[in-house]
Amino acid sequence: MRHLLSAADLTLDEAVGVLDTAEAMAATQHRMIKKLPTLRGRTVVNLFFEDSTRTRISFEAAAKRLSADVINFSAKGSSVSKGESLKDTALTLQAMGVDGVVIRHHDSGAPHRLAHSGWIDVPVLNAGDGTHQHPTQALLDAFTMRRHLTTGGDAPAPEGSSLEGASVVIVGDVLHSRVARSDVQLLHTLGAKVTLVAPPTLLPVGMESWPCTVSYDLDAALDEARPDAVMMLRVQRERMSSAGGGFFPSPQEYHRLYGLDGARLARLPERAIVMHPGPMNRGLEISAEAADSSRSTIVQQVANGVSVRMAVLYLLLAGGEETPGGIS
Ligand code: CP
Repeated sequence: MRHLLSAADLTLDEAVGVLDTAEAMAATQHRMIKKLPTLRGRTVVNLFFEDSTRTRISFEAAAKRLSADVINFSAKGSSVSKGESLKDTALTLQAMGVDGVVIRHHDSGAPHRLAHSGWIDVPVLNAGDGTHQHPTQALLDAFTMRRHLTTGGDAPAPEGSSLEGASVVIVGDVLHSRVARSDVQLLHTLGAKVTLVAPPTLLPVGMESWPCTVSYDLDAALDEARPDAVMMLRVQRERMSSAGGGFFPSPQEYHRLYGLDGARLARLPERAIVMHPGPMNRGLEISAEAADSSRSTIVQQVANGVSVRMAVLYLLLAGGEETPGGIS
C-alpha cells in the first residue's frame, strides 16, 4: 500500500493485516508505552479543509505516539481562504519536506487527486472526502466489531480473524455518508453481511452494485437481520441545505421511523452492540438512552481510532518493514 484512499482498495489480507497491526499498537498503549520510536524524524501534515474533532485529533495523537513531528493545517485561517489552490498548497508542503499527508476535504476525490497528481511524492491518507470515502473510520468500526464478535467484549481479537458470518445493520442518511460507503465495502471484504436501512429520499442512486441488502423499514430489517452490530449514521443536515435539498421526512417523523430509541434498543439481540461514527444528533438518529447504554461502543470507537490510525501511519510511512519498537 502506497496510499490509503478508499476502503475498496483493501484486499482481505490487507484489511486483516491493518486490524492485526492496530491490535499490536493497542497493546503498546495498554502496556503504558506512551511513545514508539517508529516514525522519529518524519513529519506528518494534517491537512483539514473541513471540520473534524475525532479524526483530526486521533491522527495527531497517533502520529505523536509514533514519535513523528506533526503539522496541523486548517483551511480556515490559511491562504486557502485567500483562494490558494490544492495544487499550490501541496507544492508548498512538498517544499517543506513532509513525509506523509492526512487530508480531509469537502470535495469527493480530492485525496485521489493529491496522491496521483505528481504535486507531492509522499503517502496520502484519506481522512474523509465529500460523500465518497472515510477508510480509517471503516477500519476502526471493523476493529471494534471484530473485538466484540471474537471476545464478546473489548478484549484484543485473535490475530487473523475476520468478520465472517457477522450481521451488521447500518441505518440513516446513506445518501450523504462517506462512512456508509466505506463501511459497506470493508465489511463485505471482511465477510460480514450488511443491511442498509434508510428512507428512500436518503439513499443514493446506483445502489444495485453495492454488496448489501437495502430496506426502508427499520423494525422489519432488525427482525430479519438479527444484527451483531447496529451502526446509526448522522443525519447530515449541512449537506442537505448546501445541496438545496430538504430534510424529508421531518425530524420528528425520522426519529419515529429510523431513530434508535429505547424500545428498539430493548428489541435488539442480546449480543448486539450500538455504534455511531460521531458526531451524534442526539434525539434525532439516536436517543440518549441508546447512545449512553452499556451496549454502546461509541466511546470505544474513538479510542480504537487512535490504534487504527497508528497502524496505517506505521504501515504507510515506515512501510511495515522497520521494527516498531515496543510492539510484541
Ligand atoms: N467520525 C468522524 O469522522 O468524526 P469527525 O468529523 O469529528 O472527525
